[in-house]
Amino acid sequence: MSMLTVRSAVREAEGVLGLLLADPAGAELAPWEPGAHLEVTLPSGTVRHYSLCGDPADRSTYRLGVLREPAGRGGSEEIHTAVGEGTVLGVRGPFNRFPLVPAERYLFIAGGIGITPLLPMIRSLPAGSWSLLYGGRSLASMAYREELAGLRGVTLVPQDTAGPLDLDGVLGGLSAETAVYCCGPEGLLRAVEERWPGPLHTERFGAAPSEVATPSGAFEVELRRTGRTLRVEPGRTLLDAVREVVPGVAYSCEEGWCGTCETKVIAGTPEHHDSVLSDEEKASGTTMMLCVGRACGPRLVLDL
Ligand code: FES
Repeated sequence: MSMLTVRSAVREAEGVLGLLLADPAGAELAPWEPGAHLEVTLPSGTVRHYSLCGDPADRSTYRLGVLREPAGRGGSEEIHTAVGEGTVLGVRGPFNRFPLVPAERYLFIAGGIGITPLLPMIRSLPAGSWSLLYGGRSLASMAYREELAGLRGVTLVPQDTAGPLDLDGVLGGLSAETAVYCCGPEGLLRAVEERWPGPLHTERFGAAPSEVATPSGAFEVELRRTGRTLRVEPGRTLLDAVREVVPGVAYSCEEGWCGTCETKVIAGTPEHHDSVLSDEEKASGTTMMLCVGRACGPRLVLDL
C-alpha cells in the first residue's frame, strides 16, 4: 500500500466531494486506464473503492469523486467530515475491472455518482463515436456537469425537471454493435440489462439486496493450506468463519462487488452471490467470493 496525501478537497456538486491525491514527495503515480479504481484506506481503517475520474496522462495526481451517503456504511461520511487537504490515505491500485473495450460506437449511461469512471472513458474517445446519457436527482447534484457541458454527445437529465432517463428511447434505436457502458444505482443497471441484448459493461458500487448472501444453511469448509476444517453455521458468513482462523484474509466491501476476497475453490460447489464473476466463471466454480458465497453442498475445500 502506498500513502498519498490529499492535495485538495473541493465540492463538485451537492453531496459530492472531489479529492486530488498526490505522493507527498511528488513522485510519479502508477499509470491507469479509464475505468480503473483505487482501494482507499481511510484514517479509521475503513477500506473503500473509488473510481478514478481524472486524466490518465496526469501522473502527478489521482482524482476521485465521493458521494456523501448518510444511510451508507460510514466510509463516505468519514471522507466528507474527516478528510481534507493534508490528510494521508492508504492507497492500493489502480485496479481495472471495468475496462474500455474497442468498439465502433459507445453509449454511456450514468446515474448520479456513477459518472466518475465514465468521465475518463469519454475523454479518451474521438468525438462523434460516443454519446452519454447522464441522469441525476437534480442539476445541482450532478457532479462534473460543467466539464461535460461543452462536449458533443452529452445529454444531462435532471430527474426533478426532466423526469427519469428514457432508456427505451435510447436503447431501442441502437445498432447491436454499440458497446453500452452503465454505472449507477442497482435499479438503473437492472433496467438497462433488461432492455439491452448487445454488449453491456456495468460497474456496481454496491450490491443489490438480493445479491448479498442471506446466511442460511450450514456447511463445512476445509482450509487446505491452513489445515483446518470449520463449520459455517446458518446466520454467519463464510468470510466471518474464515477470519477466525485466518485473521489476515483479504476482504473489503463484504457485499460481493469489489473482488478482494476472491478465493480459489479446490473441491465442492460454491453458491455465488457476487457481482464480480461472470456467469461462465461462476459456472466453472473455480473461485468464489468469501464474503457473500456459500456452499451448494455439504462441504467446500478452499485454497487458504
Ligand atoms: Fe468485496 Fe468480498 S470483500 S467481494
